[in-house]
Amino acid sequence: MRFQGKNVVITGGNSGIGLATAKAFVREGARVAIIGRSAETLAAARAELGKDAIAISAELSRVAEIDRAFAEVRAAFGTVDVLFANAGGGGMIPFEQVDEALWDQIIDLNVKGTYFTVQRCLPLMGKGGAIILCSSVSAARSMPGASVYAASKAAINSLGRSLGGELVGRGIRVNVVMPGGVQTPIMQRTPGVPAELANMIFEKMAQGTPMGRVGQPDEIASAVLFLASPEASYITATELHVDGGVIGAT
Ligand SMILES: NC(=O)c1ccc[n+]([C@@H]2O[C@H](COP(=O)([O-])OP(=O)(O)OC[C@H]3O[C@@H](n4cnc5c(N)ncnc54)[C@H](OP(=O)(O)O)[C@@H]3O)[C@@H](O)[C@H]2O)c1
Repeated sequence: MRFQGKNVVITGGNSGIGLATAKAFVREGARVAIIGRSAETLAAARAELGKDAIAISAELSRVAEIDRAFAEVRAAFGTVDVLFANAGGGGMIPFEQVDEALWDQIIDLNVKGTYFTVQRCLPLMGKGGAIILCSSVSAARSMPGASVYAASKAAINSLGRSLGGELVGRGIRVNVVMPGGVQTPIMQRTPGVPAELANMIFEKMAQGTPMGRVGQPDEIASAVLFLASPEASYITATELHVDGGVIGAT
């Protein structure tokens, strides 16, 4: 029960890594607000998370929507102890075929959305707060077709370092989690990935992973809870690879 009495906000908490993390925080006593778009999965996740959870619908690539979401968080919780800025998505499109619309879609969600999510959450957060940003091994490894996604995740790593330094004086820790391939619905919604190939991409990722498999959402959740917990009290402005050895061992 490391998070008894704590208020946690998780963007993208209605699917994949975000949902697994929301469940893990609830298991350890936290009150959780999840933010996403799909009314259906928000309602299902909210029901699964129980009476203390709230679900907020917002398009996180728009700052006005982020404002509205945090007004709801403020009304429900008053304060926030932990923010997991996790919502994100990509595209598997060869470099020469990337157009402005795809660039905007990925950068607006992954970079602008994450940036303003943290900014708008900050007034609700006091000393002892913890912020975890979701990057990817793509920030540090070449993956053909993922140039915009990789650039967006490299920006997240940079943001983690910048804010780790800028917020340290306020007693707020900022860290970045860098997952390798993780079995979630992400590929089914990635532009450029035909539905029938979604699982094949995870198989390919598993082959390129020293541990020989992709990760499970719970394995990322454990790392996020560690970074959010007092056990990580001396850790800020750093990156935690949760990738079966991809970055360290290849
Ligand atoms: N799975 C992997 O292999 C992997 C590897 C490295 C890093 N990551 C990162 O992990 C994070 C979570 O990914 P996941 O694998 O759990 O994917 P996922 O299951 O597809 O979940 C993505 C979440 O983000 C939300 N989201 C997407 N676009 C949004 C928008 N415009 N506005 C508001 N919410 C939005 C989705 O909500 P809706 O469904 O309501 O749109 C969903 O809850 C992402 O940042 C991803 O880049 C994933």
